[in-house]
Amino acid sequence: MSIETSEKPVVNRAKFATGLGVLTATLGSAVGLGNIWKFPYLAGSNGGAAFLLVYIVCMLLIGIPVMISELTMGRAARSNAIATMQKLAPKKQPWWLIGAAGVISAFLIMAFYSEVAAWVFAYIFKAIQGGILSTDPEVTTGAFNGLVTNPGSSLIWQWIDLAVVGFIILLGVNKGIEGATKRLMPILLALLILVGVRSITLPGAGEGLEFLFKPDFSKLTAATFLVAMGLAFFKLSVGMGTMITYGSYFRDDQDIPGTAIRVAFSDLAVSLLAGIAIFPAVFAFGYEPNSGPSLLFLTIPSVFASMPLGNFFMVIFFLLTAIASIGAQISLVEVPVAFLEEKFNMSRKMATLTTIIGIALFGSLAALSSSTLADVKVFGMTFFDLFDYTTSNILLPLGGLFIAIFISWVWGYKKIENAISNNGSLSNQRVIKILYWSLLVVTPILITIVLLNGLKIIQ
Ligand code: PHE
Repeated sequence: MSIETSEKPVVNRAKFATGLGVLTATLGSAVGLGNIWKFPYLAGSNGGAAFLLVYIVCMLLIGIPVMISELTMGRAARSNAIATMQKLAPKKQPWWLIGAAGVISAFLIMAFYSEVAAWVFAYIFKAIQGGILSTDPEVTTGAFNGLVTNPGSSLIWQWIDLAVVGFIILLGVNKGIEGATKRLMPILLALLILVGVRSITLPGAGEGLEFLFKPDFSKLTAATFLVAMGLAFFKLSVGMGTMITYGSYFRDDQDIPGTAIRVAFSDLAVSLLAGIAIFPAVFAFGYEPNSGPSLLFLTIPSVFASMPLGNFFMVIFFLLTAIASIGAQISLVEVPVAFLEEKFNMSRKMATLTTIIGIALFGSLAALSSSTLADVKVFGMTFFDLFDYTTSNILLPLGGLFIAIFISWVWGYKKIENAISNNGSLSNQRVIKILYWSLLVVTPILITIVLLNGLKIIQ
């Protein structure tokens, strides 16, 4: 390895023990509410299939290259996101700012993500009580609005979610989360397939499939490109140091490009399954595809309402969605926790507590965005939307842009080649060449154009 660091390893640092563990942990970060909640509602409000296509292009040309870069840099430096940039960059150059922006992004994402997870938690209990099983849009919409407009329950469910996440982080990433996601992820997949099958056999389902798979390019606007790119960053957990942090736990003999590609495609498969489960129901029951963040919570109860043992399956569905969301949240929280531990020599307990309290404070702004703070708007958005918009559409793309520039222009070909071929023991020269050129030219130019265009800086 060309980059050896003399710093002593942090004792409490999690290590991924096996190749499979690395894969499930990384996949556990990628798969989450992004697939089941965000992807369907964004596809729904941005034209369906045309959006899907742009999203896949962004995943291939931007998401995967940045993911490989982050994992590689994290493994080379074996440090948290900020220290990794400090170690790898030439002295006195402020590349550590990328890591610092990542830590801030982690807080902002967690602020709204933990609230959506809170809705999922609340839905587990609503499902157990049986009151939301209905195909009537009025009933399902009423149930959702009742939840989000109640400040007390919005906050309490968020705190419950944060307590669970904090507890698992404290237990240690390896056994707890690796072990749990490995076992439960297949069940979530099976359930998604079950809902998907029910959904596509509903009368009138064809329209939903057409919406998701038959592109209408007239629907594409500059904003669509920005939203699709932002989703690619969000989905693959890149542009903010999560993958740098996870890369620092990777084994030396792990095939990084192979892992990244497997993760990206498996993640895409989960998103598609969620889309197949949701869109046919949208058209069959008369929901609006562009109903926004509430889409999942309205359509899913309707699909279950039209199947035998629906309530039972719905409880399990939301339970597994909650578990998937926890895998992603752990990887978000790990970014500041690893930083606090290493930078300030905090115990893991202290670092976790500090982070979780910080998120709870920020998070209350997002939690109250449909109730107490509904009228407080910044740039015309509620806090919930503001945190969501600025992270996916600005901070993560900027992070990705600078990571691509840093690794290809500053770190350079030789070091990339050494690191990604595991010092020559993998024969993946072709992949490395393609990756290098993409990071040097394609990825930065694409991100810049989409950003400037989407933010209306150039038109
Ligand atoms: N990828 C996660 C999801 O789709 C969200 C996430 C974003 C996790 C950024 C970590 C970092 O749910």
